[in-house]
Amino acid sequence: MANDVLRTADGHEKTALARKYAAAWFAARESGQITSPLQDRDVIIGQVTPPDFPARPDKPELKDPRDVPRRRPGSRPGQVALLHAVAHIELNAVDLHWDIIARFSDTSMPLGFYDDWVKAADEESKHFNLVCDCLEALDSHYGALTAHAGMWRAAEDTATDFLGRLAVVPMVLEARGLDVTPGMIDIFRKADLHDTVAALEVIYAEEVGHVAYGSKWFHFLCGRHELDPKEAFHNLVRTYFHGALKPPFNDEKRAEAGLPPDFYWPLTNEEPDRQRGTPS
Ligand SMILES: [Fe+2]
Ligand SMILES: [Fe+2]
Repeated sequence: MANDVLRTADGHEKTALARKYAAAWFAARESGQITSPLQDRDVIIGQVTPPDFPARPDKPELKDPRDVPRRRPGSRPGQVALLHAVAHIELNAVDLHWDIIARFSDTSMPLGFYDDWVKAADEESKHFNLVCDCLEALDSHYGALTAHAGMWRAAEDTATDFLGRLAVVPMVLEARGLDVTPGMIDIFRKADLHDTVAALEVIYAEEVGHVAYGSKWFHFLCGRHELDPKEAFHNLVRTYFHGALKPPFNDEKRAEAGLPPDFYWPLTNEEPDRQRGTPS
C-alpha cells in the first residue's frame, strides 16, 4: 500500500489512495486481521523497495528555493504563494510518512509504529486537500506556481538511517511547522480568510501528534540500542540536517509533543546565556 501511494503522481489521486489504504489498515486492525507480533510471531508487515523519489505531478515545476519569487504575505498573491507552499509541504509529508513505513520494514517494529504513521499519512492527505480547497477559493490551485525542489532531500539523506530519519523529519522539520503555523494563522485571520484559518487550525492541532510520534519512536529505538536519546539526537541532526535550528521555538507545543528544550536549543547558533531568554 505504501509503495502504491509513493508511485502515484497526481496529488488528489495520491491522497485519495492514501486515505483509502489508511481506512483499510485500521479496519483490518479493528477486525483482528492484523494482530500484534506478541500474539502471532509470524505476522509479516511486508517488504518492498520504495522508489528513491516518489512520483509527483508535472506541475508544480520544482525550483531551487532561491529562484522562487517572494511576495508580501499581506497581499493576495502573497497569501496564495504561502498556501501553495503549504500544499507542497503537505504532499511531501504524505510521501514521507508512507516512505518511513516501507523504507525501514526490515527493522522489526511494534504494530503501534505502523498505526501511528498510517494515521499521520492519512492526516497529511486530509491537510493537502484542505489547503487545495483554500487555494481554489482564491482562484488558484496546486501546480499554479513553482515549488521548492529540495523537499525530498531529508528523505534521501536519511534513506539508510532509521534513527536519522526520525530525528530529522518529525523531530526537526515537522517541529518547525509548530513554530511557524501560529504566525501563518495570524496572516489569514487579518485577511479575513476564515476557512483558511480553520484549515490551518486543524493542521496545527494534528501536527503536534506527528512530532509526538517521532519523539516516541525515536526514544523507543534509542532504548532498544541503549543510546542516550539527547546525545543521539544531537549527533544525528548534526550529521543529516544542513544548518542550525532557528528560534523562536514554540516551546509549549514542542513540549506537548515530547520534545524538551535541551534537545533543540543546543543545535542553534544562539549564545548559551541568550538561549533560555535569561538576561546576560
Ligand atoms: Fe500536515
Ligand atoms: Fe505532519
